[in-house]
Amino acid sequence: MSRQRVIKHRVRGMPAQDGAGVKLSRVINQPAFRHKDPFLMLDEFKSDNPYDYIAGFPPHPHRGFCTLSYMLAGHMAHEDSKGNKGEIGPGGLQWMKAARGMIHSEMPKQEDGLMWGFQLWINLPADEKMSDPDYADIPGESVPEVDVEGGSVRVLSGLYEGTEGPVKAPGRQFLYLDYRMDAGSRVTLPQQGQQTRLAYVYSGEVVLDGVTLKAGELVDLDAEAEIEIVVKETSGFLLLAAEPIGEPIAQYGPFVMNTEAELRQAFTDYQNGTLTN
Ligand code: CO
Repeated sequence: MSRQRVIKHRVRGMPAQDGAGVKLSRVINQPAFRHKDPFLMLDEFKSDNPYDYIAGFPPHPHRGFCTLSYMLAGHMAHEDSKGNKGEIGPGGLQWMKAARGMIHSEMPKQEDGLMWGFQLWINLPADEKMSDPDYADIPGESVPEVDVEGGSVRVLSGLYEGTEGPVKAPGRQFLYLDYRMDAGSRVTLPQQGQQTRLAYVYSGEVVLDGVTLKAGELVDLDAEAEIEIVVKETSGFLLLAAEPIGEPIAQYGPFVMNTEAELRQAFTDYQNGTLTN
């Protein structure tokens, strides 16, 4: 009897540098895992050596998608071309819908200590790529937490057990959960019908469908399967789920459009200083 594979793909984050030389682990948007519609990129940055993060991400452009930063430890400041300014600390989120164009910077607000967090890129459908940009700072205390047996789940986006996360992505809501689980606990992942379902372990060790996953590993999961996670060591992991957009993806660096011609237009607009008009 053949059995449906629960884990469709398993990948480890790849060491990379971005911004002005920030060391990070590129989990999605690397050769072994390009993207998983609508998730275009997932980076994890984690270091207590200021030389790894102090240069930050000076002003740079985006067009065609949304960025979402989530901090576990440390402080980061955001500024953008629409005049938004904000700072996020542990447990906080920063949501930016770049849409037709944003130039932003993300700079550390600390000179030493641990800096640990994630940046996720979420694609926009064609009819929203040139819409108005939007931005929101969400402090850690505004992120609801749901108690489960053996741990807790922070609801960053979407709906979990009747609790709604603070990230509002009108019309294209996605599920983004942060599980903090004790050693020896078990938890069943929600199954809300979204065809894209990913889990990323950022600390500890868990077993999923008989496969041991350590910190730094991402799995692409079957959308329909009922999945129980057995927590071996005290662990933290992220769950991401969404309905795919199903449109062509043309990407070059910070621009993600549907066609090469639209990418060229984004470059021209950036060079002419009209990207954010
Ligand atoms: Co950016």
